[in-house]
Amino acid sequence: MNESVQSTEIVQEANAAVIMASADHLAYGGLVALPTETVYGLAADATNGTAVAAIFEAKNRPHFNPLICHVYDGEMAAKLVNINAVAQNLIDAFWPGPLTLVLPALADNGICDLVTAGLDTLAVRMPANEVTRAIIEKLGKPIAAPSANLSGKISPTTAAHVAESLSDFVKVIVDDGPTSEGIESTIVAVNETKITLLRPGTITQDAIEEATGLLVTTQNSAEIIAPGMMQSHYAPDTPLILNAELRENSCFMIGFGAIDGDISLSQSGDLKEAASKLFASLRQADKANMSKILVAPIPHEGLGIAINDRLERAAAPK
Ligand code: TXA
Ligand code: MG
Repeated sequence: MNESVQSTEIVQEANAAVIMASADHLAYGGLVALPTETVYGLAADATNGTAVAAIFEAKNRPHFNPLICHVYDGEMAAKLVNINAVAQNLIDAFWPGPLTLVLPALADNGICDLVTAGLDTLAVRMPANEVTRAIIEKLGKPIAAPSANLSGKISPTTAAHVAESLSDFVKVIVDDGPTSEGIESTIVAVNETKITLLRPGTITQDAIEEATGLLVTTQNSAEIIAPGMMQSHYAPDTPLILNAELRENSCFMIGFGAIDGDISLSQSGDLKEAASKLFASLRQADKANMSKILVAPIPHEGLGIAINDRLERAAAPK
């Protein structure tokens, strides 16, 4: 059997039977790839150390890089972490949705040590995808789920992207179509008085400041506490050049706004559209096998900050 035939059998369109089967696979320690509103995740029961270890193995992920716990609701989160008033405020404003909160882990919360990589904090988020929420509800436990790509490579925004690299490791890839947001959740560390932005995302710093009335500080990148903030990440195999205004021979150009390319992140200059197309566009560009990938400038404001964060890491020396 060739690889592509095997992949298509693993990809299953989301429905009630697939939801039940996925929860069962997870309950028995299996890995399942799940849709979220941001990117597809590679999920395991967060309380099962062997299952979580299999995530690290499948992704070839460094063990010091902790995972996000995905919860059904705020009540499930409250059993895992200490939710202070600021965190509650953020939960009320943004959950379900692409905001991950890093909070002090509760003792004996049942989450296996590999998930936190030995930190005394735990990252929690309530995804907006209803299929995945139904699977968590059926399992009755939080799931640990990093993006379903090989460590350091481009994140997956469709089930087919997951199948390209991880079909040997998962029982099923639950297909709920392309993700709506396109880039990973915003991550903030929260205490009673302070919010620190660890990873920009579609919920912007401004939106968080508006919802809480607190200033958001950004993490000094020298002090890596979110290892996904490592310099080289989301990387295509082809060298990537940013802020390109002009096309060049034997290069694949990704345009934006008025700057045209072989493809465009958004011809109308819409940052939300650009975020949702970013990773699929990088994959398409990589497959073109040209000498370089050029990307037009993306305005560094609002959601553009998160897009540029991903692009800079994708372009960083490996
Ligand atoms: O949108 C998302 O967040 C996706 C979907 C699948 O939910 N997940 C995702 O997971 O992006 P991952 O593993 O690719 O990125 C999680 C990031 C990593 O950079 C990790 O270092 C950081 O979260 N992280 C996890 N736990 C942490 C903690 N306790 N303190 C600081 N950073 C943490
Ligand atoms: Mg990732």
